[in-house]
Amino acid sequence: MPLYGILCLVIVFLELPSSGEAGFCSEAYSCSRQCSTRERYTTACGLFDWQRCTKHRTKYYSCSNTCYCQICCQGYTGSDCNTPLCFGSISCLNNNTCTDPDQCSCKIGYQLPKCEDTNECFSNNGGCAHTCTNIPGTHQCSCRDGYTLASDGRRCNDINECSTGKSQCNHNCTNTAGSYTCTCNAGHELSHDGKTCDDIDECSQTPFPCDQQCNNIPGSYTCSCGTGYYINTSSNTCKDVNECDTGNHTCDHICTNTDGAYQCSCLTDVDECLEGTSQCSQNCTNTPGSYTCSCENGYVLAADEYTCNNTDECQGVLCENGGFCIDLIGGYTCSCAKGYTGTHCELVSSKW
Ligand SMILES: *[C@@H]1O[C@H](CO)[C@@H](O)[C@H](O)[C@H]1NC(C)=O
Ligand SMILES: *[C@@H]1O[C@H](CO)[C@@H](O)[C@H](O)[C@H]1NC(C)=O
Ligand SMILES: *[C@@H]1O[C@H](CO)[C@@H](O)[C@H](O)[C@H]1NC(C)=O
Ligand SMILES: *[C@@H]1O[C@H](CO)[C@@H](O)[C@H](O)[C@H]1NC(C)=O
Ligand SMILES: *[C@@H]1O[C@H](CO)[C@@H](O)[C@H](O)[C@H]1NC(C)=O
Ligand SMILES: *[C@@H]1O[C@H](CO)[C@@H](O)[C@H](O)[C@H]1NC(C)=O
Repeated sequence: MPLYGILCLVIVFLELPSSGEAGFCSEAYSCSRQCSTRERYTTACGLFDWQRCTKHRTKYYSCSNTCYCQICCQGYTGSDCNTPLCFGSISCLNNNTCTDPDQCSCKIGYQLPKCEDTNECFSNNGGCAHTCTNIPGTHQCSCRDGYTLASDGRRCNDINECSTGKSQCNHNCTNTAGSYTCTCNAGHELSHDGKTCDDIDECSQTPFPCDQQCNNIPGSYTCSCGTGYYINTSSNTCKDVNECDTGNHTCDHICTNTDGAYQCSCLTDVDECLEGTSQCSQNCTNTPGSYTCSCENGYVLAADEYTCNNTDECQGVLCENGGFCIDLIGGYTCSCAKGYTGTHCELVSSKW
């Protein structure tokens, strides 16, 4: 404790100001001084020291005393003893002013008695929306990642990373409180970096999305079908082309549709009429794979459809007056009895 102007004067003057005021005060302390006493003693004296004489001498010794020294009155210091002392120092904590003994004048943000720093964060988080940091004399608010401190220094405003371009989302950015999420267009998936959108290869997925052929394209895929099939675009399935129905085939004779293709089968016609293998008794007409028989005038095709029978034109014909009918090829004639004539022997012959 530096005490300025300690000047101890042994009982020089004694000023006793009332306590609590600046100035000098006296302090009593125990000191020692030289005291003396006269002491009688006997000693040998006279001729040959045969006599005893009584003598006196002064004896000095140290004796205790009360001394006073001038010091600064309680609570003050300095050469004039008018600098107040606060809790042993001429200033208060944190550069605050000591106005009177043990009386600090604290700036805002410091608290009595010694102007210790007030931790504003203890009360209501210092008014901060997110993080409060105490600093000497005041405090400071700060915000979590993804937020900026508002102009009032307390509230925290969400940063829209999508509009600031900080997000770097490949396709689509959605701002969220304190953050953001990237999403991808259809047919793409978000890669591990959370930003890049990678094309999904639908053709390598299970189940295989197409009936037959798959072609991956950015963001999607297309299906196609092999020869002999057509794609149904609404169901994305392959359907068989019926080449026999559509006419897109090369069959001469018989076309049979199969799955994905078609088969031709052939008719090899033999002309039975020309080869003489027909059983026609008269006319022969070749047909694909077969033949038909027909008959000349005056003949009819028999029930067997091969044979030609002569038509019996005499059926139902009546030759009169004893005549009789003779069947001819394609006709008939009546052979009349003697004395008759006419087609049916109905006339009497004039020449007798
Ligand atoms: C006190 O004030 C001095 C001078 O102005 C400065 O250098 C020092 O940093 C201050 N100390 C505190 C705790 O404020
Ligand atoms: C982006 O995402 C939002 C929210 O999910 C959605 O409404 C919007 O349609 C998307 N935009 C694009 C281009 O994908
Ligand atoms: C295509 O598929 C849809 C749905 O399966 C069906 O309704 C439609 O008839 C099909 N069209 C053809 C030409 O096969
Ligand atoms: C007919 O078939 C050929 C060969 O298979 C094919 O190239 C062509 O497109 C088809 N035409 C029609 C009209 O189906
Ligand atoms: C039978 O064949 C002959 C000779 O080829 C022909 O003149 C006649 O018209 C044929 N008759 C029939 C019924 O086909
Ligand atoms: C054809 O002639 C044969 C033998 O003369 C006879 O048996 C057959 O009944 C006749 N057929 C017809 C349809 O006249």
